[in-house]
Amino acid sequence: GYVRVTAPASPSAPGPGVAVPARFRELGPDIRALQVRDDDVWVVSFPKTGTTWTQEMVWLIGHDLDYEAAKEILPARFPFIDHTALFDYRSMDIPMPELPEFVTDSVGHIDRLPTSAPRFIKTHLPYQLLPSQLQDPKCKAKMVYVCRNAKDTCVSYYHHCRLLEGYTGDFPEFCDLFMDGAVCFGPFWPHVLDFWARRDQPNVLFITYEQLKQDLEGVIRRTAAFLGKTLSDEDVAKLKHHLSFESMKNNPAVNYEEIIEINRRHNLITEAGSFMRSGQVGDWKGQMTAEQSQRFDQWAADNLKGSGLQL
Ligand code: A3P
Repeated sequence: GYVRVTAPASPSAPGPGVAVPARFRELGPDIRALQVRDDDVWVVSFPKTGTTWTQEMVWLIGHDLDYEAAKEILPARFPFIDHTALFDYRSMDIPMPELPEFVTDSVGHIDRLPTSAPRFIKTHLPYQLLPSQLQDPKCKAKMVYVCRNAKDTCVSYYHHCRLLEGYTGDFPEFCDLFMDGAVCFGPFWPHVLDFWARRDQPNVLFITYEQLKQDLEGVIRRTAAFLGKTLSDEDVAKLKHHLSFESMKNNPAVNYEEIIEINRRHNLITEAGSFMRSGQVGDWKGQMTAEQSQRFDQWAADNLKGSGLQL
């Protein structure tokens, strides 16, 4: 269940607004009013673009590579402020006590985190729906934005929605929804381009899934510099190994198994599989027809024209 909200005007999103989870009606005003802290670190992304991967990298660099503490599940260490993308469990009579506070009251949970340590916060919200303090160009809180080519994002999102969101439609229908900006957090291009336009702000680091795949070490070093941390060559090598697809696939802290298990128990899953699915660039080739691929290419070209961004 999602609704469209008409966000304040954005140069890249003049259309019919943003598709957000229905629960955003409740959370939106509190998210907007959140007291942002100077030492906050945010990971912002469109879903399925490498958010979890980026979070694990950012969290470990931000915590001086504390692999022991990183054994705690990622959503507990790095809460998702708009934790609304999943089913509205309440309307399904699924007992809320099954769910932790970072799910049932994500904004309150984040607001109450102690001030003694920096907060690490994940969001899929587009720029114009972020807390207003975070949108102040003078804001010191850091934001890492990760994006991914539209075709792989769409394929990954399709499988995600079958695994985690109860989507029962087919892939061609999903492609249409994706391109129409009707999937949660859509439309896709304004989400990316609004951050791309701010990539040179000192508190913004803009990275891509393709860079993570091609040059993980380089991205680790850029992120460390951005977070004001120094890593030795040995640190980088160890982190690179920890962040490999194989290692992340076998790491129970980053696989959302607990939430997948709740969905499975309540028969809400329409596809077998795991969160770490394929982890490839170009995975769309196994899923899209030539015609779909061409439509996506044209759509990307039209939207990226003149932006300087290549995906
Ligand atoms: P696929 O479905 O294409 O495999 P998000 O965290 O934004 O939901 O993104 C999930 C996507 O990132 C999935 O893509 C997942 O497999 C991929 N991913 C997560 N960790 C990865 C890693 N260490 N290496 C490569 N891909 C990774």
